[in-house]
Amino acid sequence: MSTQLDSGPQAAGPQGDHHGKVVLVVGGGRGMGRAVAEAFARRGARVVIADVDRLASAYNQYRSTDTGGFAAATEVAKELTEQGFEATAVAANASDENSVRALISTVDDLHGRLDTVVNAFGVTHVGSVEKMELAEFTKVVEGNLNGVFLVSKYALELLRADGGGSIVNFSSVSGRSGFVKMAHYCAAKFGVIGFTAALAQEEARNGVRVNAVCPGIIRTTMWDYLLEEFTRPGETKEECWERMRTMIPQRQFQQPEDVADLVLYLASARQVTGQAVSVDGGMSAP
Ligand SMILES: NC(=O)c1ccc[n+]([C@@H]2O[C@H](COP(=O)([O-])OP(=O)(O)OC[C@H]3O[C@@H](n4cnc5c(N)ncnc54)[C@H](O)[C@@H]3O)[C@@H](O)[C@H]2O)c1
Repeated sequence: MSTQLDSGPQAAGPQGDHHGKVVLVVGGGRGMGRAVAEAFARRGARVVIADVDRLASAYNQYRSTDTGGFAAATEVAKELTEQGFEATAVAANASDENSVRALISTVDDLHGRLDTVVNAFGVTHVGSVEKMELAEFTKVVEGNLNGVFLVSKYALELLRADGGGSIVNFSSVSGRSGFVKMAHYCAAKFGVIGFTAALAQEEARNGVRVNAVCPGIIRTTMWDYLLEEFTRPGETKEECWERMRTMIPQRQFQQPEDVADLVLYLASARQVTGQAVSVDGGMSAP
């Protein structure tokens, strides 16, 4: 998926002024993370795009044989650099403590500061609780939650250094409502919201704000996998996709750029912390 790039930094609006800021996007090689990295770069930020090359299970990489998150991140950084923006790709696994430590120290070496961290990585899997193995449950919970903890933990010192910064975590509409065959994913995404609220309280006096975004249904590599799982016998994938649309009150799928707009806003909204904000066409409206 590629996003149309403009030719120069954009003016500040509701999405704030990110010119010269250092922004780390973990999981920025593909999907919404990529759109977030591109949006910050277009606004003049110095972007570090971190992604992992392969994860240890089929469902972590959505059964694809040619996936490579770091290769994708390298491609995005190259494209942005060629267009005059500032971006660097770094290989990192958010679930691995040593890898996260090394990532933060690379950011420090490269730029000597850190203003915004976006935890845009995530994994999913489909299975009923009754049939789910503990290993599957653990993999999905860890793949969505451990990295949010690790990246936040090791980024805090650098974020605080220049008077404060901001963390934006990716939860989901599945962090607001339960969905069949996604108990592990829902548990993790509800967990991201709880973690976000607690860390926001801890860091409020240190100037670090922590918020979460809750996207609805966006057709990324994650949905390529989910469509394989949710398509019913006799139904095509496109028919299944249209069936998903009926779950959205506005009957419109969200685009990665819709979520990127919210991330930019949260990264610059000086009084907003501890919040989880949905971009889901009304799916989670109470
Ligand atoms: N696509 C949707 O409809 C949807 C809806 C709600 C929430 N989300 C959440 O939004 C986030 C982004 O999803 P997406 O659809 O863009 O997914 P995606 O699969 O297109 O992109 C995720 C990126 O994160 C990377 N990644 C995964 N695990 C990683 C790790 N441990 N360390 C570093 N990088 C890692 C992947 O390699 C990939 O490049 C995820 O947290 C996802 O759970 C997605």
